[in-house]
Amino acid sequence: MARECGLAIGSRGGVVIDDTCRTSDAAIFAIGECACWNGQVFGLVAPDYTMARTVASILAGEQVAFAGADMSTKLKLLGVDVGSIGDAHGRTPGCRSYRFIGEIDGSYRRLVLSEDGHHVLGAVLVGDNAYYDTILQCVQNDIKPPADPAALILPRGEGADLLGADALPDTAMICSCHNVTKGAICASIENGCTDLAGLKQSTKASTGCGGCSALLKNVFETELEARGITVDHSLCEHFSYTRQDLYALVRVHGIQTFEDLMAQYGNGGLGCDICKPAVGSILASAWNKPITDPLYIPLQDTNDTFMANMQKNGTYSVVPRIAGGEITPEKLIVLGQVAKKYGLYTKITGGQRIDLFGAQLDKLPDIWSELMDAGFETGQAYGKSTRTVKSCVGSTWCRYGVQDSVGKALDLENRYKGFRAPHKLKFAVSGCTRECAEAQSKDVGVIATENGWNLYVCGNGGMRPRHAELFATDLDSETLVKYIDRFLMFYIRTADKLQRTSVWRENLEGGLDYLREVIIADSLGICTELEKQMQMVVDNYHCEWRDALTDREKLKRFRTFVNDRRPDPNIRTVAERDQVRPADNLPETTSSAGPIEWTELCQGDDLVAKSGVVAWYDGNQIALFYLPETEVAPAQVYAIDNHDPFSNANVIGRGIMGDLKGQLVVASPLYKQHFRLEDGQCLEDPAIRLRTWDARLENGKVMIRAKINEYTPETLLA
Ligand code: SF4
Ligand code: FES
Repeated sequence: MARECGLAIGSRGGVVIDDTCRTSDAAIFAIGECACWNGQVFGLVAPDYTMARTVASILAGEQVAFAGADMSTKLKLLGVDVGSIGDAHGRTPGCRSYRFIGEIDGSYRRLVLSEDGHHVLGAVLVGDNAYYDTILQCVQNDIKPPADPAALILPRGEGADLLGADALPDTAMICSCHNVTKGAICASIENGCTDLAGLKQSTKASTGCGGCSALLKNVFETELEARGITVDHSLCEHFSYTRQDLYALVRVHGIQTFEDLMAQYGNGGLGCDICKPAVGSILASAWNKPITDPLYIPLQDTNDTFMANMQKNGTYSVVPRIAGGEITPEKLIVLGQVAKKYGLYTKITGGQRIDLFGAQLDKLPDIWSELMDAGFETGQAYGKSTRTVKSCVGSTWCRYGVQDSVGKALDLENRYKGFRAPHKLKFAVSGCTRECAEAQSKDVGVIATENGWNLYVCGNGGMRPRHAELFATDLDSETLVKYIDRFLMFYIRTADKLQRTSVWRENLEGGLDYLREVIIADSLGICTELEKQMQMVVDNYHCEWRDALTDREKLKRFRTFVNDRRPDPNIRTVAERDQVRPADNLPETTSSAGPIEWTELCQGDDLVAKSGVVAWYDGNQIALFYLPETEVAPAQVYAIDNHDPFSNANVIGRGIMGDLKGQLVVASPLYKQHFRLEDGQCLEDPAIRLRTWDARLENGKVMIRAKINEYTPETLLA
């Protein structure tokens, strides 16, 4: 195209540009790998970004010039680590070299020094890039080499330690893709940034080639510590371990319950709304037990407990599985009939399913019973698990399609449905490179080619979108599934709590290359085990709603009030666009203190150990939390207002019970504020306190009475 336009072309190709990135036609700029500057065509991303910045500055009226770029790079060639830094070929007059040849492992390293030996000029690395970061920093920042410079390339153990992050000057370039210096990292910390993901978001560091991720983490943590900010990797106050550590402990020691994990590796206490769901997810992934297992109920947040998604008024949305977005007319009709019968708002989701909103807790079993009869199963939209496999119509109907994308989406969704992970997982399959299913914005994206399937990983839509990366090309169906199995199991083994694949990938030391080594080349020797684990998960799949509907004990939980059949009177709807939407939630209206004498409220076996239920008393909604008797303490029942003042929804009884700094609390399931069970005090807002009642178990019954200190003439009258 440049030739046709008459632009000057370099002798070895590339559109000739000057220092302002202008081509021979001053109105046309060229940047990146098509541009030829000073006879050079750059094949690296860092110079491309520098050119882009140059043009942007010029367009903004600034006087800048492109002055070339550091061509240091490390990569893998035919499976071998190679690195080239600065004057790798020793062209500086008078320079001298050290060379290390490892005949055993086939490695080679050359270090180039200035004539006086005081400056590191460059290096060549073959077979091991572990030396790269240190030498690069010496070259870029003119850091004096050690007394014996050869130590920089000698095998570790005999050679130099890695250059400490504190030895780097503020001008040290940490991420050359995005021009991020150590000084810029320090400035972010000074501005209050204390987490790596936030740092990456604000500086873009390590979001290009990813080669700087280890150094970035090292510099960031060193600088935090230098400012007295402890880098705490604990899950929460109950576990001084990361999620990855806990996953390994659970698997290695065969731990089956939260209590056992707490007893062996925890810091004591009941747990909290951070560690309980995280451990619940680890146990469910590791042993593939249903989340409705009674052992896990107290660990789950409300969505997992009731297998539906809580909405802002305390109702739930119901999402049946529509694998690959394919649905028969008969099933569509059933969805419409169910929505009409139960007054539900219907909406088609981005994942090609139909979401039914506005179901009250006690209606969920009836709704699911009708959906099951029509052949639906749970869509697991409530869980941190595989959500949807979106697909385009593919070669079956589309004239451009080269493979059956719907068929592939069905295979994948049916294989991975219900798979529990640190965060939700989304898939998509496109039938050709036109990409109508937007597979490159998903955790796992598959795009059909003439020769098979291209696999993309770690994409994300949402708040911080990230394009998926091409992981492997032209795979046959068997290899595709094998790689996805390994990828997903490796992710759940190593990801942090609530970490999406995109953030996990950005934090993965070694980046995509490392991931390929683990998944494709099996560099850790774990792939057989990963596949076996995934097969176990696949073989043990069952529909959680089908299980629940046949279990009377589980169904008991689907009651708005354990002692009254009425629905929550606070839940109201208004008409909008021929459907319903929630009316604004009403603030708390009842203010009676409750009975002065001990009064029976409900049965003891209505309670759920270490969790909550709700009872109705004279217009009051009372959430009851139950701690069963232990060797050291008698059974305790706590009665607290079910009304959440932050959302004005009646949902407190469906929050996670736990302890924080020794105080028993419940976390609101909507906005996560914590309320002390003893006296209702909100830990996040001293001005907010929920009503509480005295409660106890007596002859198998739950008794309540007003708190003595809450008797006032007004409350008694009310
Ligand atoms: S991605 Fe290709 S096959 Fe699928 S609908 Fe679009 S054009 Fe057709
Ligand atoms: S050096 Fe490429 S992302 Fe930082």
